[in-house]
Amino acid sequence: PHLLFPGEKPQPLPAAPTSQDELKRIAAHRAVDLVESGMVLGLGTGSTAVHALDRIGDLLRCGVLHDIVGIPTSKKTEAHALSIGIPLSDLDRHPSVDLSIDGADEVDPHLNLVKGRGGSLLREKMIEGASKRFVVIVDDSKMVDRLGCSGNSVPVEIIPFCWGYTLGQLKKLFAGECGFDARLRMTGDEKKEPFLTDNFNYIIDLYFENGITRDLNEVSDEILRLTGVVEHGMFLGLASSVIIAGEDGVTVKNK
Ligand code: 5RP
Repeated sequence: PHLLFPGEKPQPLPAAPTSQDELKRIAAHRAVDLVESGMVLGLGTGSTAVHALDRIGDLLRCGVLHDIVGIPTSKKTEAHALSIGIPLSDLDRHPSVDLSIDGADEVDPHLNLVKGRGGSLLREKMIEGASKRFVVIVDDSKMVDRLGCSGNSVPVEIIPFCWGYTLGQLKKLFAGECGFDARLRMTGDEKKEPFLTDNFNYIIDLYFENGITRDLNEVSDEILRLTGVVEHGMFLGLASSVIIAGEDGVTVKNK
């Protein structure tokens, strides 16, 4: 089933080649087909999720969808959702979320994810973890054989207090890993200020030359056991489905 505006015709997939942003839009619109009036929705963060937000906003405006409540996973998403008329709430008022839709930085063959390049991993994990269904939307460049092997980082949110100590503890944890590196995420024109999350925390980016070769749940537990760590960007077993848009079409993988 496709949610369409009154009079809107279903769009055939465009002839190749398709831009990466167009693929993100295609995946996002496919996910929004799962939205029903009356739902509580987890609203993701990033350039893919924004296509889902815009589509939901358009469908609300023309009355195809109604009585939607959105729970934003970041301040940026909150501002955007408000600007396009999506009514908002939070987990305190709506602790059970019907459906969350969000992008990812990496997806492995078991639908484990790396998220948080945009820095919103903590709120994303809280809201997506509280969802009956969590649908991930990606273009096919995000598919990897093993988490951490795309050259992008696995982010870890930490408290700012004595961040150098926590960085050292994380480095110690992965000391045996070939080519491992861990760096405090910086921002600003000259990259001289630490990046601050919406929760006023810092991010340490972990880089694995060959991806994470050890058991992911063990690695997750070891990171979370460090006292200065708040959360990490590995989303293990949380995704219900992944919608992957590529030049050859859309593939849906279910848990
Ligand atoms: C933000 C995220 C994003 O979902 C992830 O970085 C993917 O972003 P994009 O859709 O822009 O590629 O986890 O914290």
